[in-house]
Amino acid sequence: MSQLETLVNALPKAELHLHLEGSLEPEMMFELARRNGVELKYGSVDEIRAAYDFSNLQDFLDLYYQGMAVLQTEQDFYDLTSAYLAKAAADNVRHVEVFFDPQAHMERGIVFETVLNGIRRALQDGHIRHGITFSLIMCFLRHLSEEEAFALLEVATPYLDQIDGVGLDSSELGHPPSKFKRVFEEAGILGLKRVAHAGEEGPPEYIWEALQEIGVDRIDHGNAAARDQRLVDHLVETGMTLTMCPLSNQRLCVTPDLITNPLAKLLRAGVRVTVNSDDPSYFGGYVNDNYLAIADALDLTPAEIIMLARNSFIGSFLPDADKERYLDEIDTVVSELAAPGI
Ligand code: HPA
Ligand code: ZN
Repeated sequence: MSQLETLVNALPKAELHLHLEGSLEPEMMFELARRNGVELKYGSVDEIRAAYDFSNLQDFLDLYYQGMAVLQTEQDFYDLTSAYLAKAAADNVRHVEVFFDPQAHMERGIVFETVLNGIRRALQDGHIRHGITFSLIMCFLRHLSEEEAFALLEVATPYLDQIDGVGLDSSELGHPPSKFKRVFEEAGILGLKRVAHAGEEGPPEYIWEALQEIGVDRIDHGNAAARDQRLVDHLVETGMTLTMCPLSNQRLCVTPDLITNPLAKLLRAGVRVTVNSDDPSYFGGYVNDNYLAIADALDLTPAEIIMLARNSFIGSFLPDADKERYLDEIDTVVSELAAPGI
């Protein structure tokens, strides 16, 4: 194992940007299709993988919404979430803050409780089995209307003890954060954390909107910030966290390749950058794969890799005492490894 792999494997990490539905591996898609009598367009796992050749976000979303049609029962959502947690545990991920997309299931006739119960039960069992702590973030699909987002918030209101925050995902261009200003305001009043995808394909203005009109606690992706120095300065001054996803950016052609990813530029400017997998089944890698690929492409130093792992806990919704405990653990791991260059 290379020194880089040893370091990345050994570091405790949090994953803050992960769509559970995007962790649906082709093998499980096949298995659930069989179990539920759902017909797939593909004859084999290899055919599914071959279809994952995207030129933009919408290309991916079309397959993402198709693929999740196999998720029907509470057990399906349990199995999906459990499989992700096993992968996360293998990558030494200790805390996860995961997204789910209820509207994409409800429009197929799946009731909200089926989705929530399966996911929650798996998260609780994952805590027992792997020691992984968690937050759950319910996303509004931004290609749908404000009214539909309000309707989801109403459906979810009896379950707010089981949901930690709200997010905003799906097709970004043409659907700025300001479209959901009022629903996020209401979510804030209900005590929910707020995050939003911004600046993945959209311009820096969408990141400003997420910050100033929605009052987000974190920005998901945020790549476009690198094109606006005033925004970079603002992110640094306010200690805002970006949940970046390098392999996702590469596969969705947000950046032409990993070498042009703005992650190192933002990190070196002092922005609180984190590394995450987004939709690992579709983009070719879980969290450690993302650390390794971007560290290699951008020549990140061991100190910078450690900083990314520290940022993942600092930028999480964990209580301060838990953050401190994980940061102490990172210090211990680093001193044991005596990693060169630190
Ligand atoms: N971007 C926007 N919406 C999404 C994504 C993404 O990468 N994955 C799942 N929904
Ligand atoms: Zn995402």
